[in-house]
Amino acid sequence: MNQDELKRLVGEAALDHVQPDSIIGVGTGSTVNCFIEALINSKIPIEAAVSSSEATTLLLQTGGIQVVDLNQTGGLDIYIDGADEFDSHRRLIKGGGGALTREKIVAAASRTFVCIADQSKQVGVLGAFPLPVEVIPLARSLVARKMVALGGQPEWREGFITDNGNWILDIHNLDLVDPVKMEKAINNLPGVVTNGLFALRPADLVLVAHKDGIKKV
Ligand code: A5P
Repeated sequence: MNQDELKRLVGEAALDHVQPDSIIGVGTGSTVNCFIEALINSKIPIEAAVSSSEATTLLLQTGGIQVVDLNQTGGLDIYIDGADEFDSHRRLIKGGGGALTREKIVAAASRTFVCIADQSKQVGVLGAFPLPVEVIPLARSLVARKMVALGGQPEWREGFITDNGNWILDIHNLDLVDPVKMEKAINNLPGVVTNGLFALRPADLVLVAHKDGIKKV
């Protein structure tokens, strides 16, 4: 099985966590796209979805699923999203697709966060994947200097603008042995909107696609 097939497998497995006639939170990325496709094909009746990006909104609406604003729904029962890395404590790095801020908001509003990933995303210690940080444009170089002081090597994702009109710094080589501490430290910097560490609010369940089937973390 190649990686695309593993993504499809885990996208379909996530359907078990969708209650008919509920409002679900939906993340962003190629793995979630497989989930959205499986959801549309499944014909499970969904009242509506809260989306974490413009790209996901478009896919959902094209498939006939109504997208509603989180301000209208209050708390959600379930949020389904992918990750760039996860560890054995279900702590994640997210934001490879640049949707980290809305993803963190929808995850925070949800009782259960089910992360879907293929086996290549599992790591012992987070941090091989550069950590995305969304910044207010004015603060880009200030935040970059602060990130150097925190031990990282920032790289500006030049030309990329988030759905919120901001910029992304990808931080290489950060020491993430204590991801909770680093998540708080980065979020405390003026000009940072949020960072892609999901350690304060990790996933509640990670469904992992292996060649021999789905495993749970
Ligand atoms: C989007 O900003 C990210 O957080 C994605 O959830 C993450 O990058 C995983 O994407 P893939 O499923 O495409 O690997």
